[in-house]
Amino acid sequence: MTVKHTPMVQAVDVWKSFGSLDVLKGISLEVMPGTVTCIIGPSGSGKSTFLRCVNHLEKVSAGRLYVDGELIGYRERDGVLYEMSEKDASRQRRDIGMVFQNFNLFGHRTVLENIIEAPVHVKGEDPARAKARAMELLAMVGLESKADAYPIQLSGGQQQRVAMDPKLMLFDEPTSALDPELVGEVLRVMRNLADEGMSMLVVTHEMAFAREVADHIVFMADGQIVEQGTPEQVLDNPTQGRTKAFLSTLF
Ligand SMILES: Nc1ncnc2c1ncn2[C@@H]1O[C@H](COP(=O)(O)OP(=O)(O)O)[C@@H](O)[C@H]1O
Ligand SMILES: [Mg+2]
Repeated sequence: MTVKHTPMVQAVDVWKSFGSLDVLKGISLEVMPGTVTCIIGPSGSGKSTFLRCVNHLEKVSAGRLYVDGELIGYRERDGVLYEMSEKDASRQRRDIGMVFQNFNLFGHRTVLENIIEAPVHVKGEDPARAKARAMELLAMVGLESKADAYPIQLSGGQQQRVAMDPKLMLFDEPTSALDPELVGEVLRVMRNLADEGMSMLVVTHEMAFAREVADHIVFMADGQIVEQGTPEQVLDNPTQGRTKAFLSTLF
C-alpha cells in the first residue's frame, strides 16, 4: 500500500502579473511536509513575488496555491473561486511564518523604520503611504504592537518566525542584508528548524546552506522554473544553460 501525503505547499500553474508585466508564468511545485525547498535564481525572476503569493500577501492572477491541502486566499464553489475575507486570509496566514527580506536590516532603526526604509528612501514613495502599508503588513503577521520596537528588542523567535507554531516557514533571503557575524547565527537557527522537521520554503543565495539543508532546489528565471531537483542534480549537474550560467556567476 502506498501512502499519499498531502503536500505542505502545492503550487499549480501559478501566474502573477503587475499590469502588463508577467512576473510569474506558470509556477508549479510541491513542498512535502518536513522538507526544505530552496529557491534560487537571478534578481527579478519573481522569487519574492512567489513567496508573497503563498501567504496571499499578493493575489495570484491565475492558478492555485494550496498550503497543507487548503486553497489559499479563495474558496471554491462549483469550480468558481471567490476571494476570502481579509479575516479568513489572516487566519490562514497565522499558520505560515514569514521572514521578510532585510527584516532586521538596521539595528538602530525600529521595525517600522526598517520596513519603510527602502520604499521611501530608495523608491521615493510617500512616507505616510509607506507607513500605512507597513502597518498593514505587520498586522497581517500579528506584529503591529512591535512596530516601534528595535530589532534587538524582538525575541529571536519573533525575528525568525512571525507566526506561532507555524506549520510552514517562508524565508526571503533572510541573510542577504545581515552583518557577516550574524549570517552564521541565522543559518544555524534555520538548520535547527529544518532538523526539527519544519517545512520550509527558502529563497536564498547561500549555496553552501542550500546544498547542505535543502531536500529540493528550484531554479527560477524570468518568472518560470527552469529546472528543479536534488541539490546534486541542480547545483552539481545542471542540465539547462541558464542554470549553468547563473551558478557560474556565484563561484
Ligand atoms: N508591487 C509590484 N508592482 C510592480 N512590479 C512589481 C511589484 N513587485 C515586484 N514587481 C516586479 O516583479 C519582478 C519580480 O520581482 P521579485 O519577485 O521581487 O523578484 P526576485 O525576488 O526574484 O528578485 C520585478 O521585475 C519587479 O520589479
Ligand atoms: Mg526577492
